[in-house]
Amino acid sequence: MTILLLAIHVLATVFWVGGMAFAYLVLRPAAAPLDPAARLTLWRNVFAKFLPAVGWAVIALLVTGFAMIFVTFGGFAGAPISVHVMTLTGILMMLLFFHIVAAPWKRFRTAIDAGDYAQGARNLDKIRKFVGMNLVLGLLTVVIATTGRYW
Ligand code: HEM
Repeated sequence: MTILLLAIHVLATVFWVGGMAFAYLVLRPAAAPLDPAARLTLWRNVFAKFLPAVGWAVIALLVTGFAMIFVTFGGFAGAPISVHVMTLTGILMMLLFFHIVAAPWKRFRTAIDAGDYAQGARNLDKIRKFVGMNLVLGLLTVVIATTGRYW
């Protein structure tokens, strides 16, 4: 059971953190020289695909993470400190994700669909900042999760 839960947990992690790294470090500089209309429409289409998929990854991480705490460790009291820290930073990442979806992404999408590129650009900048924060938190969480058994 633990093998299946851990496999799903790690695959969801790879998708979410890897996707943010690709968006931030590869797609962003590659899209920068495009005309604003083309660039903002590209990001609208990218996030329309990526954010719902991250929503599924979040559900998978929560279900498998808490299932492992109870199945593998018999509750929080039996789990190592790294798992406690991961739960905290993981929940922080999820709150940031929900904020992106509910606030700047909603405003960005509405603006682009109405042809208001200036308002769209302002909200894309907010999304960029939050994704940057979540990328840092995600990398930190992965390091904490994987090195935890040595400290
Ligand atoms: C917030 C809910 C979360 C809970 C309750 C949770 C819980 C757990 C548990 C119990 C394990 C197994 C630890 C072990 O077998 O030693 C684990 C492994 C792991 N978690 Fe999480 N986790 C959560 C979120 C996250 C997030 C958001 C990430 C990445 C961004 C993440 C990355 C990992 C990784 C990479 C492992 C594998 C560690 C290893 O076996 O080397 N987790 N998690």
